[in-house]
Amino acid sequence: MTATSGAACGKVILLGEHAVVYGVPAIAAGITRGALAEAEPAPDGRASLVLGGSEHGFEGAGDELAQAFAALCAELPGAPPARVRAESALPPGGGLGSSAALGVAIARAVGALAGGAPSDRVLAAAGAWERVFHGNPSGIDTTAAALGGCFRYTRADGAAPLEMRSDLWLCVGLTGVASSTKAMVASVAHLFERKPEIKDSTLQGITALVQNAALAISAGDIVGLGRLMDLNQMLLAGLFVSTEDLERLCDLARQRGALGAKLTGKGGGGAAIALLDAHSDAEAGGAGAPIIEAWRAAGYDGFITPIRSARALHAG
Ligand code: PMV
Repeated sequence: MTATSGAACGKVILLGEHAVVYGVPAIAAGITRGALAEAEPAPDGRASLVLGGSEHGFEGAGDELAQAFAALCAELPGAPPARVRAESALPPGGGLGSSAALGVAIARAVGALAGGAPSDRVLAAAGAWERVFHGNPSGIDTTAAALGGCFRYTRADGAAPLEMRSDLWLCVGLTGVASSTKAMVASVAHLFERKPEIKDSTLQGITALVQNAALAISAGDIVGLGRLMDLNQMLLAGLFVSTEDLERLCDLARQRGALGAKLTGKGGGGAAIALLDAHSDAEAGGAGAPIIEAWRAAGYDGFITPIRSARALHAG
């Protein structure tokens, strides 16, 4: 049998992180930069997984990796024991869904050995993989990895894809500072306990921004979406989850023409996203290059990546 392959997207939260923990909807998206996996039936019948170059690998996973791979394969009972090679182009631990992208790509590649796993099986397999690393994850990362595009997400109802008028282009900037989702969520909870008035006003504000952003995305209003991202960043800074590095990344991006910029995910480090004024891949290269250059000059790494509309994704 010939080798099979699977691909999956990375994840960003465009608006609504932290508020989503309190029931407010967030808008998340799958970015094209993600993970790839190749699988073939194991000649000796023993399943194995090799992760690519160490800088793209899943750092610090240790024995958990074997456990996660076993949990994933157990959700794909029709597939033969597989020899898998996988690689993520996302920094591990940066809030960009690297482990979920690996889980979905591996599940797709292994599932393809048995003729292709349906999407609910892929999500179940990637969910089992994620639970080994992250306990009880919300499912936002695996959904973004599998679906791509933009989607509205609530804890109660899960993901609902958002119709996009056109692709969106982002610069993603990396602080290089690791932070813990659990600790950042706990720090916001602590602030809300001490200052309930901040909780009410922030959650109301973010709810309105997310509603308007969903409308902006479906109308193709990227200028409006950028402004809403800037406002969301102000509210996140008010929750003390932004950092000097994140503010620097956002300021540099705005100075170099980004339509809006904010942290993405837990904050306290991790990554920032900047929305580009672009309607095509070629325009994105032109609009993104000065931002990446400014970030590199300031000592930060970054990359340009699109969020493809679901239509474009399905067209292949
Ligand atoms: O772990 P990250 O960076 O993908 O961020 C998670 C998003 C939060 O809203 C902060 C937490 C959550 O569980 O939704």
